[in-house]
Amino acid sequence: MIQQQKIAVVTGANKGIGFEICRQLLDQDYRVILTARDPDRGQAATAQLLATSPAIEFFKLDVTSQADVDRLSKYLQTRYLRCDVLVNNAGIFPDQRDDLENDWPSILTAKLETIQKGLETNTYGALRLCQAIIPLMQQNHYGRIVNVSSGMGQLSDMNGCCPGYRISKTALNVITRVIADELKDTDILINSLCPGWVKTDLGGDGATREVSEGADTAIWLAMLPTGGPSGLFFRDRQVIPW
Ligand SMILES: NC(=O)c1ccc[n+]([C@@H]2O[C@H](COP(=O)([O-])OP(=O)(O)OC[C@H]3O[C@@H](n4cnc5c(N)ncnc54)[C@H](OP(=O)(O)O)[C@@H]3O)[C@@H](O)[C@H]2O)c1
Repeated sequence: MIQQQKIAVVTGANKGIGFEICRQLLDQDYRVILTARDPDRGQAATAQLLATSPAIEFFKLDVTSQADVDRLSKYLQTRYLRCDVLVNNAGIFPDQRDDLENDWPSILTAKLETIQKGLETNTYGALRLCQAIIPLMQQNHYGRIVNVSSGMGQLSDMNGCCPGYRISKTALNVITRVIADELKDTDILINSLCPGWVKTDLGGDGATREVSEGADTAIWLAMLPTGGPSGLFFRDRQVIPW
């Protein structure tokens, strides 16, 4: 029997960790749908990877747009009849340093619109994608979902800085747990991960890890065997506390 090539969708993949995840999935023989909200940036990133593999294509996707998400799920349904891997990587850091105080805002003074902004992309964005793509995974009785979260969302290691980012990532972890419970006893596995502190536009210059390291656990979770873990939080392929 001919084994069909597995299809992987990665969000926010025009740069940073998402781009590297696409590159590593191509190395693992996946057909990769690189998605990005900006068509020019997304197409430029796709062209870079096309130089090494034909198994990459671009799809315009802003995770805050329900219309974009619906278009993607329709496309997958008609073109491939499947989606094997979903990596919810798109993310923003909505909190900004206070120019006057030169400090991160306290939750007591943070603007609620900043917190809403974080939720819209980092949390609802991932949930939208799960709602759109899991039915396709259910049709095929197979799926791997990787939610790129952050140690800053760990309740066990919470402190006062950056409430917009922290709340959005903790809530993303809730989505991982709730969906894992709904899908228990299936071969659709969903997990959260923290990539560590990675040198990207979001991570900044002081970060300690290269993108290759930051993407490693995502690739490992995307390729989990049947019976692998689900509903857990990982860093460096090891379970970490919520
Ligand atoms: N770097 C770290 O140290 C670190 C640590 C912990 C967790 N993470 C998580 O890792 C993930 C990737 O971050 P990164 O470090 O690679 O940051 P990055 O280089 O800033 O990349 C973020 C990506 O998300 C995209 N994005 C933002 N809003 C989007 C939207 N509404 N729709 C679609 N795409 C959107 C960005 O697109 P544009 O180019 O159009 O803005 C960009 O492609 C994020 O979820 C982040 O929270 C990173």
